[in-house]
Amino acid sequence: MKKLVVFTGAGISAESGIRTFRGSDGLWEEYNIMDGASPEAWAKDPKLVLEFYNKRKAQVKGAQPNLAHQLVAQLEEKFEVKVITQNIDDLHERAGSTNVLHLHGLITQSRSSVDENLIYTIGFDEINLGDNCEKGTQLRPNIVWFGEEVPNMDKACELVSCADIFVIIGTSLNVHPAAGLIHHAPTNIKKYLIDPNEIKVNDIENLTFIREKATVGTPILINQHLKVLLQKDNAF
Ligand code: OAD
Repeated sequence: MKKLVVFTGAGISAESGIRTFRGSDGLWEEYNIMDGASPEAWAKDPKLVLEFYNKRKAQVKGAQPNLAHQLVAQLEEKFEVKVITQNIDDLHERAGSTNVLHLHGLITQSRSSVDENLIYTIGFDEINLGDNCEKGTQLRPNIVWFGEEVPNMDKACELVSCADIFVIIGTSLNVHPAAGLIHHAPTNIKKYLIDPNEIKVNDIENLTFIREKATVGTPILINQHLKVLLQKDNAF
């Protein structure tokens, strides 16, 4: 089976009702990034940070995977699929994807604020002040904040560098190091980018831009591009 790597951002979950970060109705229009998603904010006002993520969690709880998440999951029937997502929601998993690497953490997990290896699956329960890890210190969301290392980055680079096909859905490619992943894809492989808005990607060979929303662009990707690629194997 061909190795298909799908790299997603907030745009794939937009049609599930989860707000993106940038753009006119993006989350960072309403909140200052450094007040909600940084170690400095946590040190200054942990209650505010917990409230911010408890709200995000309530939003994810009420959301459902959309057609794009579902189609990405179904691609596992024809490809060896690895999903790399910047999203902290669990919609890929709920749609049925079995191989999902979260670059920026997962809202359904908490972690110790003194030991990053102490991670707990807590589902949609809130984290509040006074909720402690087994070492007796405050729990925080298992989210990668601005200025922090991205622990899964090396693994993501490795997956992308071994891909036969690379698909990007719904990311403005503004946040590094994640945005640099595309440069790890082999030059000769087919790459596809699905986004309704203009995305600046320079010096990338073999890139097809499908300028549509995720729920429109993903069926186009499959029906007009992936099926053709696999036709000679008679895989569809
Ligand atoms: P952004 O908000 O920066 O970008 C969202 C992208 O989705 C934009 O390019 C939109 O054009 C596109 N988009 C909007 N609606 C769409 C739809 N229906 N279908 C497909 N695409 C659509 O979000 P990210 O690139 O994911 O980090 O942001 C990266 C990181 O910045 C996030 O993981 C988060 C944020 O700060 C942390 O919280 C650590």
